[in-house]
Amino acid sequence: MSLLSGGVAVVTGAGSGLGREYAIALAARGVRVVVNDVSVSVVGEQTTDQSADDVVADITARGGVAVANHASVADWEGAESIIRDAIRHFGGLDIVINNAGINRPSSLVELSEQDVDAQLSVHLKGTLAVSHFAAAYWNDVGFQPNRAIVNTTSAVGLHPTAGGGVYGAAKSAIAALTVSHAQELAKLGVRVNAIAPCARTRMVIASPNVLALMPEAEGFDRHDPSHVTPLVLYLASEVCRFTGRVFAIEGPDVAIYRPFGVEQHWSTQEFWTPESLAQALSAVAEQSTTEAFFPGGVVQHRTPPSRTLRALDH
Ligand SMILES: NC(=O)c1ccc[n+]([C@@H]2O[C@H](COP(=O)([O-])OP(=O)(O)OC[C@H]3O[C@@H](n4cnc5c(N)ncnc54)[C@H](O)[C@@H]3O)[C@@H](O)[C@H]2O)c1
Repeated sequence: MSLLSGGVAVVTGAGSGLGREYAIALAARGVRVVVNDVSVSVVGEQTTDQSADDVVADITARGGVAVANHASVADWEGAESIIRDAIRHFGGLDIVINNAGINRPSSLVELSEQDVDAQLSVHLKGTLAVSHFAAAYWNDVGFQPNRAIVNTTSAVGLHPTAGGGVYGAAKSAIAALTVSHAQELAKLGVRVNAIAPCARTRMVIASPNVLALMPEAEGFDRHDPSHVTPLVLYLASEVCRFTGRVFAIEGPDVAIYRPFGVEQHWSTQEFWTPESLAQALSAVAEQSTTEAFFPGGVVQHRTPPSRTLRALDH
């Protein structure tokens, strides 16, 4: 069985790292690709790279078909131009990979307004804007099966820990958008899923602490970015039946997250008072959320003290 032959895809942030891998792999399967990248550094500062053009040249040299788009996903008109380029050059749109990203780690104490705006703009507004213009186009042309959006969340957003900051919050929001958009776009034949990748790209190389967890390995290199691509291609393909789900991938390990859910439930015949709530909730045992994610993998749950009532006593 060979997945994905033909169609039109948009890949945002495809000038480097994971997006570059996706664009090249899609084109190798006959998908015509809009290679979007505004060419910024890991923290979002403009560079003089021609990264989208370089990826298009690479795809073309391998016999594939692609065009470059240099807009920022964080710019509303820029996002519109990405979708418009797919329609103008290739006559349609089947797949959107929302991948563009930056990371400006900061503690809450040191946080600047620029850190907040830049990260929310690229991740949250960028995902919304590109998905909006894709959805508007699909709505105009009507239902067609096998359309797909693949969003990019992060373990930092799904297992929040100290220092996750704005980046993590924006990635959490992308997971929420994934569930919401899956429900909204089903009627147009669009499946919407998200991935939390884990791979040694320049974003990781810029963070020495994270890089230390992903050393290069001889032979099978668990954190080589190429290992993420098969999951993205599967989620974009006609055989995938998942929608509204969040996946994680780290080398040979793939996981599906539980949907958002309730852990425990209390019900009363009368309205709660603060005292009756205190009584009911006092029975909640201190819980540890420490569990290995992928054994030997980078992401490990830790025990956030906020999960325990006892921590509130301090
Ligand atoms: N590498 C990992 O382990 C990891 C883990 C979790 C999530 N992610 C996410 O995966 C995605 C890809 O990251 P990567 O690791 O390949 O990093 P990367 O820095 O190599 O790639 C990100 C690309 O996005 C582009 N970009 C940034 N802002 C943009 C904008 N406004 N408009 C268009 N393009 C823009 C950059 O120029 C860059 O080419 C990001 O969303 C990142 O947050 C990566």
